[in-house]
Amino acid sequence: MKDKATGKSYAKIIWFGEHSVVYEKPAIAIPIYSVDVVATIQRIPTGQQIHCRYFDGPISEMAENLRGVKTLITHLVSLFGAQRLAFDLDIQSKLPAERGMGSSAATAIAIVRAFFDFFEVNLTRSQLLKLADIEEKITHGNPSGLDSATASSNMPIWFIRNKINEQIDFNLPTSSLVIADSGIKGKTSEAVSLVHDNLVDEPESSQPLIDELGKIAETARNALATTDDVLLGKLMTQSQRDLAQLGVSNHTLDTFCQVACDNHALGAKLTGSGLGGCVIALAKNQRDAQQISTALRKAGATQTWIQSFKNYQFSTG
Ligand code: MEV
Repeated sequence: MKDKATGKSYAKIIWFGEHSVVYEKPAIAIPIYSVDVVATIQRIPTGQQIHCRYFDGPISEMAENLRGVKTLITHLVSLFGAQRLAFDLDIQSKLPAERGMGSSAATAIAIVRAFFDFFEVNLTRSQLLKLADIEEKITHGNPSGLDSATASSNMPIWFIRNKINEQIDFNLPTSSLVIADSGIKGKTSEAVSLVHDNLVDEPESSQPLIDELGKIAETARNALATTDDVLLGKLMTQSQRDLAQLGVSNHTLDTFCQVACDNHALGAKLTGSGLGGCVIALAKNQRDAQQISTALRKAGATQTWIQSFKNYQFSTG
């Protein structure tokens, strides 16, 4: 056992396939390196069994909305038979919560990694995702697993629930995604329930949208293989229309997408569960990315980030 250990994870952005991924359609998602979570565990001589600095108190006093994280920590403590030890757990997160960037999954992944590092035990990827799921099931109800899969990856991924979780290579060296936070909170569990209810109440109008979102993800994968950024942009805008019809967009997100497209974006859409959160826009080059980012801030975005694809360590390209 170490005296101190850390675990790290990333924010995730769903490029294609949010919501339809819950119904086993494919999705493409990417980790955002500049927006990370770092969990640090340190032995302390005495005191609370686990004092969580991030939440500013002992875990027994964690708020109800953090029940998932609390349950995960409790599970890890008993997994390692560490009930008699005293720790300080510090979590530094650059992710805004409830903005579709996978804050809860990234927090869970960082905590699991920190615990395994602390107890010097090897952690397999499937073990990591299973453990993160303990938290995600409590926080989100019926998670597809995409958030944890992306938060724990260094590379963009192609994902089908319970079937495929693989890295994808593509070659878009000058392009980037601009991410803009609306500052509006959107609860994943509410958005997922809304889509579920629409599917039950109005299957004739909702099911084709889910099917189309899945097809868009497949087409996008081909467009990545042929480096067709114009098509990728169009597919993003088409996704946004479908997601809006499913009822998970709002006026601010629609406006941000329009502002991005008016400022040279090849396409734009909401990302994650919607009802708030972030919009992503595809920029052909760095100059366009800066212009889109500035325009979105002027339109009211509380934060923007630019993720360039050249930063990923693709094996090709
Ligand atoms: C949430 O980040 C993404 C959703 O597709 C839900 C999920 O995949 O579990 C809306």
